[in-house]
Amino acid sequence: MNSKETKYQPEKVWSGRFKKATDSLMERFNQSIAFDIRLWRADVQVNLAWAKALAKIGVFSPDELRRILEGLRKIHDEFEKNEFVVLPSDEDIHSAVERRLTEITGSAGARIHTGRSRNDQVATDVRLFCLEALGELFAALHSLQRTVVQNAEQHIDCIMPGYTHLQQAQPLLFSHYLLSLFFCLQRDKERLADCKSRVESLPLGSGALAGSAFAIDREFLARELGFSQVSENSVDAVSDRDFILELINALAIFQIHLSRYCEDFIIWSSAEFGFIELDDAWSTGSSMMPQKKNPDSLELIRGKTARVIGNQTQLHCLMKGLPLTYAKDLQEDKESLFDSIDTAFDCIAVFDGALSSMKINSDMMRQKLDEQLFATDIADYLVKKGLPFRESHRVVANLVRRSIETGQRFSEMPLAEYRQASALFENDVFSIFNWQNSINLRNVDGGTGIASVKKHLIRARQLLKAVETF
Ligand code: ARG
Repeated sequence: MNSKETKYQPEKVWSGRFKKATDSLMERFNQSIAFDIRLWRADVQVNLAWAKALAKIGVFSPDELRRILEGLRKIHDEFEKNEFVVLPSDEDIHSAVERRLTEITGSAGARIHTGRSRNDQVATDVRLFCLEALGELFAALHSLQRTVVQNAEQHIDCIMPGYTHLQQAQPLLFSHYLLSLFFCLQRDKERLADCKSRVESLPLGSGALAGSAFAIDREFLARELGFSQVSENSVDAVSDRDFILELINALAIFQIHLSRYCEDFIIWSSAEFGFIELDDAWSTGSSMMPQKKNPDSLELIRGKTARVIGNQTQLHCLMKGLPLTYAKDLQEDKESLFDSIDTAFDCIAVFDGALSSMKINSDMMRQKLDEQLFATDIADYLVKKGLPFRESHRVVANLVRRSIETGQRFSEMPLAEYRQASALFENDVFSIFNWQNSINLRNVDGGTGIASVKKHLIRARQLLKAVETF
């Protein structure tokens, strides 16, 4: 059929004003039902609350309200049982639910859209969806933190080389390294909680842009739908998508966190490092090279981080330069949001699985510790004997050069050689060359010393107990 001859479809919620039918390509282009069907639960909930609010001002008689609520519950069941039939004329989830409600309840259903617009409806639906996702994301991060703490506790004594510039820098407790992820995740949770405080502002009652002309009890709506406040400006309420940006920003930061730890673990799982070995369950092989065991789980988390950052960019571009209030561009806010949430959930679960099952090869970590990592401790030794740090740095740098030239480790160099570099060196310099001691020089709060790490493990456990969810 030629697109110009598309049959007139009077059942569209807005078709009354039009003489001609929508072009069939435009019809498809305009539809969001394929993806916003995910909002069905929120949309039914919003309809339930709205129907009650309308009944309070006499739009529905008690009997009509009863039929409307029954109809909405029926629609809820149809969706839940996967029996809801989407018609080609259903432009989006809002028009689909209204169409079905009118089919079930007749003239009562035809009054459900009194005093509201899809503009305040969609903003409310998406906020409800985000509130649910935020709670689940918070809980998922919380359980990942638990895995991190358990792993840190199991390997409390394991010493590894710490890196800056991917060059060995100073020894670290592996547990200290892992706890750094715990605190990243703590900030991620805080960002979600902060985001939530602004998501729970109710736009419903804002109408298309100017506010509903019906004396709707918005406080009642907020209570019904679990929002903590009502929006204060209808223009802002239907235009605002900050809450989506905030959520996706928080997810992008979270993904970047995971991606960096994945990168470390990928490097550490190589033969060159051999610090960790991923469990078979979280690795894959090669179709060609029979010996291969690849860290695909971690690589995919790193790869999917790009996708969330891409979604984040799309949403920022979407909003920039958009005139107030509503424009159809805003329909494009959903797919990136859904995709980012889905991706984050998958990545949390995969990372949790990979981390909790990976083998930590503490012997190899220790074996790879280069005695050059004592250099700072030697410099600090001289400082404690009174030498200004800048001078002791120079003295030890000479010793480093000497050790490279002669191939002698610090612990093998004779005292005479130390004394040649500085008369402040005494026999006790050799007590420096013990990894445990080096670690325990750093019991400053937040440092890698065992006492400090144990203290922060307790702190982590307390944080885990304090807020399980929000
Ligand atoms: N499907 C639309 C969206 O996702 C719903 C709002 C439509 N509003 C309108 N004025 N056409 O944004």
